[in-house]
Amino acid sequence: MISASPLLDPTALTGLVDGLVEHGWCVAEGFIDPALCLALQRELADLAQRDALRAAGIGRGDAHELRRDIRGDAIHWLNRESLPQRQYLAAMDTLQHALNIELYLGLFEFEAHFAHYPPGSFYQKHVDSFRGRANRVVSTVLYLNPDWPADGGGEMAIFDPAAPERELARIRPTAGTFVCFLSETVPHEVLPTRLPRASIAGWFRRNASLNGLVDPAR
Ligand code: OGA
Ligand code: MN
Repeated sequence: MISASPLLDPTALTGLVDGLVEHGWCVAEGFIDPALCLALQRELADLAQRDALRAAGIGRGDAHELRRDIRGDAIHWLNRESLPQRQYLAAMDTLQHALNIELYLGLFEFEAHFAHYPPGSFYQKHVDSFRGRANRVVSTVLYLNPDWPADGGGEMAIFDPAAPERELARIRPTAGTFVCFLSETVPHEVLPTRLPRASIAGWFRRNASLNGLVDPAR
């Protein structure tokens, strides 16, 4: 029996771990407490207003570059500076523990950033970790947008690891929805959004996080 954080749905936690084992990816709606999602959404809005978000790039170390044609979000790394951040990280700690017990993944660190996609932005199809580097093992995304309309765009598309052209799912970025997948194998994409889109992207790793500043493989 996994003891869950009070801010995380325990039934959903079991389903999530099972989905990850069976398919390599899974989605849970209402995974994180609505009040915590709202607090995180407000914090991201506040960070944006204070100009504390930075354009996200691609590649690590010397290869790092801004490519708005590939990825259009602005980010802020979680650093435990607020209670909502600490509560979310505590919930991810519970998930990490469950993954280690059920999947023997040997995960021992979690890094995450807020992400704001302005209208018109997207993130082209990619995987989050390159085979062999084995830094990011399990990817997570929590959405923070209350009442996302059907025509809002900004869905995350998930593709078949064995047939990367085949789309398996399209996930609306509604507050509380949580997606989890194996970082090396599952191609995914953020479709162009029509509305400002708020989320937290996070990764469980096997080694120390350098928050993208230095290539840990070098
Ligand atoms: C990422 C990513 C997906 C999303 O940040 O690497 O794929 O739905 N995000 O925000
Ligand atoms: Mn990704």
